[in-house]
Amino acid sequence: MNFKILFNVVPALFLAGCAGNGGGSKDLAPYQNETLSLEERVEDALSRMTLEEKVAVLHAQSKFSSAGVPRLGIPELWCTDGPHGIRPEVLWDDWDQAGWTNDSCTAFPALTCLAATWNPEMSALYGKSIGEEARYREKDVLLGPGVNIYRTPLNGRNFEYMGEDPYLASRMVVPYVQEVQKNGVAACVKHFALNNQETNRQSVNVVVDDRALYEIYLPAFKAAVQEGGAWSVMGSYNKYKGEHCCHNQYLLNGILKRDWGFDGVVISDWGGAHDTKQAVENGLDLEFGSWTNGLDWGASNAYDNYYLAHPYLELLKKGEADEKTLDDKVRRVLRLIFRTAMNTRKPFGSLNSPEHLAAARRIAGEGMVLLKNEGGVLPLDPAATKRLLVVGENAVKMMTVGGGSSSLKVRHECLPLEGIRTAAEAAGCEVAFERGYVGDLRTEFDGVNSGQDLSETRSEEQLIADAVAAAKEADAVIFVGGLNKSRHQDSEGSDREQYGLPYAQDRVIEALSAANPRLAVVLVSGNAVAMPWLDRVPAVLEAWFSGSETGNALADVLFGKVNPSGKLPFTFPVRLEDNGAHAMGEFPGGDSVRYNESIFVGYRWHDAKAIRPLFAFGHGLSYTTFEVENVKADRMSLSAKGTLRVTADVTNTGDRAGAEVVQLYVGDEESTLPRPVKELKGFEKVMLEPGETRTVAFEITPEALSYYDDTKGEWTAEPGAFTAFVGVASDDIRGSVNFTLE
Ligand code: BGC
Repeated sequence: MNFKILFNVVPALFLAGCAGNGGGSKDLAPYQNETLSLEERVEDALSRMTLEEKVAVLHAQSKFSSAGVPRLGIPELWCTDGPHGIRPEVLWDDWDQAGWTNDSCTAFPALTCLAATWNPEMSALYGKSIGEEARYREKDVLLGPGVNIYRTPLNGRNFEYMGEDPYLASRMVVPYVQEVQKNGVAACVKHFALNNQETNRQSVNVVVDDRALYEIYLPAFKAAVQEGGAWSVMGSYNKYKGEHCCHNQYLLNGILKRDWGFDGVVISDWGGAHDTKQAVENGLDLEFGSWTNGLDWGASNAYDNYYLAHPYLELLKKGEADEKTLDDKVRRVLRLIFRTAMNTRKPFGSLNSPEHLAAARRIAGEGMVLLKNEGGVLPLDPAATKRLLVVGENAVKMMTVGGGSSSLKVRHECLPLEGIRTAAEAAGCEVAFERGYVGDLRTEFDGVNSGQDLSETRSEEQLIADAVAAAKEADAVIFVGGLNKSRHQDSEGSDREQYGLPYAQDRVIEALSAANPRLAVVLVSGNAVAMPWLDRVPAVLEAWFSGSETGNALADVLFGKVNPSGKLPFTFPVRLEDNGAHAMGEFPGGDSVRYNESIFVGYRWHDAKAIRPLFAFGHGLSYTTFEVENVKADRMSLSAKGTLRVTADVTNTGDRAGAEVVQLYVGDEESTLPRPVKELKGFEKVMLEPGETRTVAFEITPEALSYYDDTKGEWTAEPGAFTAFVGVASDDIRGSVNFTLE
């Protein structure tokens, strides 16, 4: 007997029956009756709650849950990280995994990889799949997705986010949120806002101008809330205008709740609340923390003493806090509970299904970005590659364990070496492996141990010598390196300390390039890295942290089963100083950090200063070739309420099927305030057979031409001359048209 199914089906049938025959629902209290409107139910529940019960739903009762209202049968809320898979069950009061044996999940690729697909359909598939896993694990709130903008390659958590461009991140976040929530699981969009570094993350005050705030850092959150309909948002640790973002009057009550009409719950980042009065007055609804193990450490400071617990109750009892504000918070939490935990009509979900593994593999394959490919090194030709050498620790190190709160316990992780070996052997090739360098030997995070033994006794010199000797014997060499989610190497809680590859990787790559000209470098990372060896390496592939199916997806791309179609969601500068935040802004700052580069983030900076990137935003090669021609507009001018249609023909001029991402950028030729040379305003991924041509069309509205006028505090589209650029990367524009806004 499947008790889970019984438990879920009975109330659903009961309610369906009530709705159908009009009888029975009279036995339900209005708040329990799902045929009534959400707001009617919320008001009814609210009217039945005591002051103590109201306060009790506003803070954690364990590491990841908050209490419901037991007397009324209103269930608890259970949260889970996010954003790439469902975190293993953790102890009631501690971060360590609880040791359950039924909670291994599918790891989906990190969000940089998802963004690199430039395909909203992949976002929908991702949201659906991870939402089903959350639902099966009986979680109500998924702590993700993250949409903080990629400001500098040194941010340790960039891998959890969707790149440097607000338009791309907006288009990609919306389907993720919508599909997760179809499972009766809330997305919790994080970290709102301006959380662009890990150094001093709990205290740093971000100083940014309004234009950058509205044009760069907020749009993806706005899209997630207004178009995606996100049911919850997580406040960030950092400060803005001197106030912590978990209780920030300006961001939460002003922008999120008032301007955007958000009716959901603001959840604090864990331990992100610092003051009761501010938490009460400045927009926080639900406080989570990291203060106690419930026993000795922090026992005197346990959940009752959270800022939104007894201290709040005291203020209310003394009349120093008003009930109107309290009721607003409780309404929000009730809405969230009714939408999720107390929704009897939600689907059942599924865990580790073949469909989820297939989704992880597909998204990973579609997100990998072929950065360089000369001399026909890739795809590997099995007929000419009888002996293949794989070098590098990242070919054999599990990447799903580690990195901070996104760390997972997976049922299986197909490592790069395993995936390559399976595909190669099926094609009749032999695969040898050399370690090449020693990076991070640790295999444990919060009690989850990958069980790998990564110990190594050879010296750095010996490892390189062994790799070189093997490379000389091989028909082709695949180096798999990059970063590895250990401290300072793409991990929560610390930023990177250098732009270059860590350990001896640059030396190994140089040595391999001298030993064998048929070398491909595969980077497993969530960030750009310096490539001093690029001239000597014919092929480079960015493979990201790609989750459970990393190895299979990588092999799909290396052997050409999947024709790469990923595009960079952020710029790779040649040097760190070529990035605006490092050239002109501050990073990581001290008590405060000034974003002096303002709106000139990523390619906007490179364009403005005419700095050639190592690899541009939007760049990504294919095993076929494409032509984009006939860029045309259907009119020369656009009225204030009109639409201008830009079309272009894209043709697959090579000999294998593949997909190209046609990108539309718009530039304002004359404006009162400084503007970027061009900004992404549309994109479409087009799958084409060899020789096939298709016409892509983009609609430009005045909204796409507008900027945030900080002197007036509003968005403005200034009449005048504009250019629409159509291309296949921000530095590879294939045609343009001029038009005017009347
Ligand atoms: C992270 C969040 C995460 C939370 C719960 C915090 O430290 O910043 O992203 O969701 O912990 O694990």
